Amino acid sequence: MSVQHLSIQRLRNLQQVDVEFDVGINLLYGLNASGKTSILEALYMLALGRSFRSLKLASVITQGHTDCLLFAKLRNPQGVIDSLGMTRRLDGDHSVRLNGETLSSIAELASLLPVQLIDPSTVGLIEAGPSVRRQYLDWGVYHHNPSFFGLWKQAQRLLKQRNSALKCGTMAATVRASFDPGLVVVAEQLNKLRAAYLKLLEPVFFQLLSGLVDLPDLKLGYYSGWSANRDYSDILEETLERDLRLGYTQRGPQRADVKLTINGVNAVERLSRGQQKLVVVALKLAQGKLLSEVEGRKCVFLVDDLAAELDWSHRREICRQLVNLDTQVFVTSVGPNELTGCWPEGEKIKMFHVKQGQVSQD
Ligand SMILES: Nc1ncnc2c1ncn2[C@@H]1O[C@H](COP(=O)(O)OP(=O)(O)OP(=O)(O)O)[C@@H](O)[C@H]1O
Ligand SMILES: [Mg+2]
Repeated sequence: MSVQHLSIQRLRNLQQVDVEFDVGINLLYGLNASGKTSILEALYMLALGRSFRSLKLASVITQGHTDCLLFAKLRNPQGVIDSLGMTRRLDGDHSVRLNGETLSSIAELASLLPVQLIDPSTVGLIEAGPSVRRQYLDWGVYHHNPSFFGLWKQAQRLLKQRNSALKCGTMAATVRASFDPGLVVVAEQLNKLRAAYLKLLEPVFFQLLSGLVDLPDLKLGYYSGWSANRDYSDILEETLERDLRLGYTQRGPQRADVKLTINGVNAVERLSRGQQKLVVVALKLAQGKLLSEVEGRKCVFLVDDLAAELDWSHRREICRQLVNLDTQVFVTSVGPNELTGCWPEGEKIKMFHVKQGQVSQD
């Protein structure tokens, strides 16, 4: 799926923008504060229903206004066009329409237009806590397994119920029997899906990484959320006393993580800032590549400020890998020439100049 046309109204400094994009590489350039990241934000919101910069709609909607409106024409590889429209209002009200039909929930959007974001904050994938890496992992599992979302929701519900029971400080065997067996089944299933996905991803990641940086000792490991090779039911039994004391379930699929280590040490301790960015870029590219190879689906890459923290040869290698993915890419830069010479010779780049909230095609 690619974005053929995008219309934005009242999002940050973008009062009214209408743009026709290319199915390949789209470069948005402009001075600081011109609105480049806001365009990526609009695309991300259309794909996922929320911003990647702020949870507060008041920050996203243009100051002084009460709603923002997004509309896109999406083109699938067979050339079929879908019309996607979204309104978000300050009072929390929202509507999402696909080909004129109102979608009952924003969650239905996520599978329509898979997007990957690479921006200066995405090094958080290495330096932040497990939840960011779990989200990363689950993005892939979700797009590869239709059953994942239902299982994930079930696990959330069972854990919520179990945790509120734990908060009472005691839990009768009959109450436990109403959560734990179901939770065990769901946790083991989620675990299988996550582990299998990471196994598929691993070689793709290392192959892409080797083109970017030489890190022979880097390892990618999976943590299920409880001790490896142990039955989750035994873990719940063993940790019950402590769970009751703490008032929440300590071990389980809600603690899953992707571990990046170098010689057994957390990779963040050993990698330079630029190396961290390269590892994260390889992780993101790998998910896009795998989605295309296994599912035959393309994901859209939003790449904000690619040049930040990267030298010229690494920018060039990333640009080449993005082109190799043969997918739609939106990349931002301050000047029009920051990435000149980075793209393979002859590659057609559609350039857009962003100036004070207005977008014009070069
Ligand atoms: N809710 C809002 N209403 C109006 N303007 C806003 C709002 N939020 C942010 N802005 C402004 O929108 C402008 C565009 O911001 P954006 O982050 O998109 O710029 P950018 O082109 O990515 O800049 P940079 O190169 O510095 O990253 C900024 O001037 C910012 O102050
Ligand atoms: Mg920006």
